[in-house]
This record gives sequence, structure tokens and C-alpha cells, in this order.
Amino acid sequence: MAKVSPSILSADFANLGRDVKMAVEAGSDMIHVDVMDGHFVPNISIGVPVVKSLRKASDGFLDVHLMISQPEKYIDAFMDAGADLINIHLEAEGNMEAMIARVKSRGKKAALTIKPATPAEALFPYLPSLDMVLVMSVEPGFGGQSFMPDSLDKVRTLRREINRQGLDCLIEIDGGVNLKNAPEIVAAGTDILVAGSAVFGAADPEDAIRRLKSL
Ligand code: DX5
Ligand code: ZN
Repeated sequence: MAKVSPSILSADFANLGRDVKMAVEAGSDMIHVDVMDGHFVPNISIGVPVVKSLRKASDGFLDVHLMISQPEKYIDAFMDAGADLINIHLEAEGNMEAMIARVKSRGKKAALTIKPATPAEALFPYLPSLDMVLVMSVEPGFGGQSFMPDSLDKVRTLRREINRQGLDCLIEIDGGVNLKNAPEIVAAGTDILVAGSAVFGAADPEDAIRRLKSL
């Protein structure tokens, strides 16, 4: 069974509490929260206050994806706000090891994320200290883009290395995931599917979550 983390970037921001409640009740394993600073990516989305409100509205597991240039400055604020997992981009500024250690010292889950141009091997040195790696299958910044098939090779490469080292680090994929390509993505070794438009843009979002999970 795949795990599913619906991306609220495609939800209705005027009804976020309602949409997150629906996603959790439909069996979502996590709720994916896309934070963009208009600098690391060419878009601005949501920040700490929204995570704080979501934490009050839901007991769902908050999977926070930081598409920001200076995560070191903000990870504590996101954890204070109630994030359960912090995804930090390997391409961002700052000392990755120190940030991972900081997140784990607070009893939260730590993940590193790579953009499409970054090789999977760049994550290898960090795998033993990570709870999860996130492979971007689109250029980060916007929902509703097409899945980049090259990302499947990265998943396979990471799966092999995680297994070789005997680690329990999870693999998440984000961008362009839908009901059609999800079986192949899961077969490549992905544990967690992020899906934005495929869930919140579906005629029946709860059914979309259940079908993704059943893979
Ligand atoms: C893109 C975000 C994704 C996005 C995925 O920068 O990181 O989480 O919301 O949306 P879909 O599933 O529509 O590609
Ligand atoms: Zn994301």
C-alpha cells in the first residue's frame, strides 16, 4: 500500500480546514504543506501562521515542504507552529547536517528534498540521518505540472542505496502524480505519493485518495 500526502496547494485556501479534514478522514497518511518564499522558487504561497491554524484544526500529520532559500532561519518557527516533518531542499543555503540534527532534536521527522537537476547520489551521505527523502518530479513552484519520468530512475537509485545500507528512510515523490502514473511510481520504490491537483482537482477527492492509497 502506498502512503498519500495530499498537497494543499491545490485545495481551496478559503476552506482549508474543511479540505484538510476531508483529506484526513479519507485516509491520508500526511498533509503536504508547500511553503514558497518567492526567492527559492518563483512563487509565494503560505507560511508559519497557516501551519499554526492547520495544527489547531486537525491532528493530521503535517508534512511541510520548505521551498525557501534560508530554511535555517525558519525551521524552528515551523516546528513551533506544529509541523511534524520538515522537508529542506538540498539546494538551499545552510548546513544540512546541522538542520537535520536540529529537527530531530525536537522529536520531529527530517527530510531532504532534491530538485529535478540534482542527482540522487547527492543525498547518499545524508541517508543514515534522514527519516525521508523527497524527489521532486517537477520544477518546484507550481501545482498542476507534468510528471518528469527521469525522476523514476532517481527513486530506483535511492531505493537501492537505502536497502544496501539497511536503512528505513522513506522515499516521497512530489509533482505531477496522478492515478494513471502512480502504479509505476510505486513500483519504482516510492513510499509516499504527494498529489495536489490529482486529489483536490478530482470530481471526488476522497475517492482519489483511496485509489492512490490502494496501490
Ligand atoms: C510544487 C509543489 C507540489 C505541488 C504538487 O512545487 O511542491 O507539492 O503542489 O502539485 P501537483 O500534484 O498538482 O503536481
Ligand atoms: Zn511540495
